Amino acid sequence: MTLGTPAVPAAASSINLAERLSRFSELWMPKKIADLNDYEVKITKLKGEFIWHTHEDTDELFIVISGLLTIQLRDGDVTLAPGELYVVPRGVEHCPRADEETAILLLEPAGVANTGDAGGERTAVLETLR
Ligand code: NI
Repeated sequence: MTLGTPAVPAAASSINLAERLSRFSELWMPKKIADLNDYEVKITKLKGEFIWHTHEDTDELFIVISGLLTIQLRDGDVTLAPGELYVVPRGVEHCPRADEETAILLLEPAGVANTGDAGGERTAVLETLR
């Protein structure tokens, strides 16, 4: 009889959004906190206005964690409070704005640039928070 050592799985642990948010202060710089199939779960802090842009190939999910997010659309604004979400459909031009510092969670396919088709200096290099 052989007494094997049972395989010990790596301890599973949750991802705490407040803890992850406490680790950075830059605005408009999304951080990856998890993968979901070929999607990325990202968090970011926002204040002020971003740039108008479009994602031609993908929808974009916004969930507000704290603060207040206005997603400006060409045919009207959508304002999200904590606990609210909105999906910007692919191909729809949008410009996020936050009058106070706001924290959000984003879900979109891996590799999607925050500035979409607009590009430019506000395009973020994605960092992962482990
Ligand atoms: Ni976008």
